[in-house]
Amino acid sequence: MDVGIVVHRMEGSQTDALVKISNTSNENFWTKKIFEKHIRLKNHGGLVAFDNSNPVGYAAFERRHQDAYIQIWDLVVHPQYRRRGVGRKLVASLTSMVPTEFSGVRFNVRESNFIAHLFLKNANFWCDAIARSYFIDKTGGPPRVEDAYCFDYNTNIARSKNDSIRIISRTGAVLAGPRPTSPRETFYVSQGNGHR
Ligand SMILES: CC(C)(COP(=O)(O)OP(=O)(O)OC[C@H]1O[C@@H](n2cnc3c(N)ncnc32)[C@H](O)[C@@H]1OP(=O)(O)O)[C@@H](O)C(=O)NCCC(=O)NCCS
Repeated sequence: MDVGIVVHRMEGSQTDALVKISNTSNENFWTKKIFEKHIRLKNHGGLVAFDNSNPVGYAAFERRHQDAYIQIWDLVVHPQYRRRGVGRKLVASLTSMVPTEFSGVRFNVRESNFIAHLFLKNANFWCDAIARSYFIDKTGGPPRVEDAYCFDYNTNIARSKNDSIRIISRTGAVLAGPRPTSPRETFYVSQGNGHR
């Protein structure tokens, strides 16, 4: 339950608390410098979820006029507050502020971040593309490269989380959603018995 959680605009005075929340994420690690730069940049902004006066989660985003999309750059909820609707509240606040001339909200997340896939699917985002080698981590040792799953919430397309959606790994395994019917199976079914 998110009772008592209030969402406000991200501000420079919050950066120390936001860095602490960011450090709990495997998705990105934002330093104080990155937060400060992000807040200063034109068309960039953020939302922060508070429990009383305590920041417990944030979403950092950019209004990309060239794409007519709001791009989320980072979204993290403190581990003690996860699974209580805080992330949902942050994303709902973002989707409700999409300007009418924009198409929606986008977010690229790591292929390995299965919880993020489930979370975004639950928030009516769809994964429509994969960006190969999108994440390159260079912190010590050989660079670690990872694909991004590109999730999209389109305000012009009414989609429901109950629509069938599949998340399929690089190896073709279905990670979530109904198993696809292969063209072969469809063919055999439509031909009826005796045609195999
Ligand atoms: C992903 C993240 C932001 C979700 O935030 P949250 O506040 O815990 O999410 P919510 O409580 O709003 O969850 C909304 C729905 O998402 C799905 N979900 C969230 N966490 C889940 C989990 N661990 N396992 C399965 N489903 C999950 C559920 O459908 C959930 O609804 P339910 O609790 O009614 O079943 C949070 O786990 C996080 O900060 N992770 C680390 C940072 C990260 O990976 N950021 C990029 C992510 S989009």
